[in-house]
Amino acid sequence: MGKIMLEVNNLKTKYVTRFNESVYAVDNVSLRLEEGESMGIAGESGCGKSTLALSLMGYYFAPLHHIEGSIIVEGKDITKMTPDQVRKTVLGTEISYIPQAAMNALNPTQKIIRFIENVIHAHDPGMPKNRIYEMARDRFEVLNLPEEVLEKYPVELSGGMKQRTVIAISTILSPKVLIADEPSSALDVSSQKMVIKMMRELMKNGFIKSMIFITHELPLLYNVTDDIMVMYAGQIVEKGTAKEMVFDPLHPYSKGLMGSIIVPEAGTRDAKLTAIPGTPPNLKNPPAGCRFAQRCKYAHAACKVQSIEEVRLKDGRMYRCILDQNELKEGKK
Ligand SMILES: Nc1ncnc2c1ncn2[C@@H]1O[C@H](COP(=O)(O)OP(=O)(O)O)[C@@H](O)[C@H]1O
Ligand SMILES: [Mg+2]
Repeated sequence: MGKIMLEVNNLKTKYVTRFNESVYAVDNVSLRLEEGESMGIAGESGCGKSTLALSLMGYYFAPLHHIEGSIIVEGKDITKMTPDQVRKTVLGTEISYIPQAAMNALNPTQKIIRFIENVIHAHDPGMPKNRIYEMARDRFEVLNLPEEVLEKYPVELSGGMKQRTVIAISTILSPKVLIADEPSSALDVSSQKMVIKMMRELMKNGFIKSMIFITHELPLLYNVTDDIMVMYAGQIVEKGTAKEMVFDPLHPYSKGLMGSIIVPEAGTRDAKLTAIPGTPPNLKNPPAGCRFAQRCKYAHAACKVQSIEEVRLKDGRMYRCILDQNELKEGKK
């Protein structure tokens, strides 16, 4: 077993809105990431992926609040630290986070090298600028990014180049865990491939020790991460290796995300793919029982009332559903 980079136990977090309503966006999430491991998190929009990413940094300020659960980094529970301690000792070096749409949020009036200086100075205020420039240049070279980019402004870069630059800036301090929130979603296919290649390169070279890659597209993760968790309505509904999750998903929601619920057309032997009708529930008031039941074509009456514990299968796989695989195959009502 590799060294554990991140261990999360039963994490629950919520937003408190300005009308004083609570939105329970991360509900009882546990995960563990070892050195060299990459984990994918998939789920539709509104399922809590970005909130989970934010919550994993342990950097809580309104409207996001920690309810319970631990996040262990280097033997310390960072949920017990003050935001200031987290900022000084965790962010950038232990955990680095690339927010969704980060590349479009870069301050347009700053050259790229200034962003790198800011990241490094937040951690080491005394480092001279020429030393920072050398560090940045060396790292850019490894990542196949031209040195000239350091002196450019964000608007001068193409989308793909901007996103790769964001990744380089975010990982300049060689974090143990990189959390990338939909880093390739806004890009065309060839830029997507470059971004994914670069993230793998960072892992291979040891510039990042482990990675969490968030996306709404489950199939995308097959070539990107070792393991995949599927998130629905604030909860993890299934975990497995990338291969298991992509080729043999167990939970009805994962099956739907894969677009792989194959239904024979009436009277023919042809199969058609089904999408998932409906939308995820409102997390102010999550439904009792299985949160997916309203949209699940296999749901029994019990699914809507019975609390769903994680079901563990013989080979160590987990999915959160009371139906067994035979019932799911038959689509019993
Ligand atoms: N700042 C916020 N205040 C209140 N609710 C929020 C806030 N940001 C997101 N939410 C809600 O939290 C839930 C999860 O959102 P999010 O984490 O962005 O999902 P995803 O990244 O999977 O699309 C949604 O119901 C969303 O409306
Ligand atoms: Mg999101």
